[in-house]
Amino acid sequence: MTEPAPTAPPAAPPAGAATTAGRTLLQSMGANIVEVQAMPKRPTAGAAKGKDAGLIVTIDGPAGTGKSTVARLLARRLGVEFLDTGAMYRAAAAVAIDAGISLGSPDQIVAAVASQDMHFDWDADPPELICGGRSMMKRIREPDVTRIVSPVAAIPGLRRDMVRKQRAIARAHPRLVTEGRDQGSVVFPDADVKFYLDASAEERARRRYEQLVAQGTIRGGPDEFRALLQEIVARDLSDSTRRDGPLICPEDAVRIDTSDMTLEQVVDELERRVRARAG
Ligand code: DC
Repeated sequence: MTEPAPTAPPAAPPAGAATTAGRTLLQSMGANIVEVQAMPKRPTAGAAKGKDAGLIVTIDGPAGTGKSTVARLLARRLGVEFLDTGAMYRAAAAVAIDAGISLGSPDQIVAAVASQDMHFDWDADPPELICGGRSMMKRIREPDVTRIVSPVAAIPGLRRDMVRKQRAIARAHPRLVTEGRDQGSVVFPDADVKFYLDASAEERARRRYEQLVAQGTIRGGPDEFRALLQEIVARDLSDSTRRDGPLICPEDAVRIDTSDMTLEQVVDELERRVRARAG
């Protein structure tokens, strides 16, 4: 899982830890659930009931909203496959690092990734990402990968390759919950149901902070909270301002602010909406 799952509202962050940076960046967030537009663009596949009909559900949004966990649980409830596209970008970053290619050589990164066979083992839960014959599941969560994945994901040629791969996956697995940053906006503009999960930067930083303290990775304190918040704000900015496939809320997506919702509530809400739309 790439992100901490939404949980019951955690304890308050260290006094004075939250800066106004996150609030300023994400202050446009409104009420808990804002339905931007109710109808999916393509009423055909999803509207056709039955397990043989195609069903593409996209979940986009920034880091720390619990997207991966939510997507995986939703896919299980709907009895469809789950695609973690962040894992693919992370694998690309790992390939670059392990081949000793720097961020200054984007063409080499694109070529190195394209030369590897990247696929999922769909028998595993979650599906196991295999690259060049080796499982990437541990490697892609390591700190060096997390550090460079955002700039790697901004390389246009790499994004083109990933979009192609993701569409090929959907052709082979036409009943899919897919999550990332550009799934509803770029990769599957005709998806049957689109969601955009959001949460305030402070809340996302607080979830991450509590997860790291619980793991014993950090000792905890206002400075560490502030650093996490800054990291999240910086990643949001980088993901949402890049030229190709920027993080945006598609016009026809259902936007859900998970700040005050439990994981269970989020999955319930998404499942209810998918069933209401797609049957
Ligand atoms: O969701 P994640 O943290 O595993 O994503 C890792 C990085 O990949 C993050 O910087 C956003 C980027 N990403 C992207 O640009 N497009 C996607 N469809 C999925 C992830």
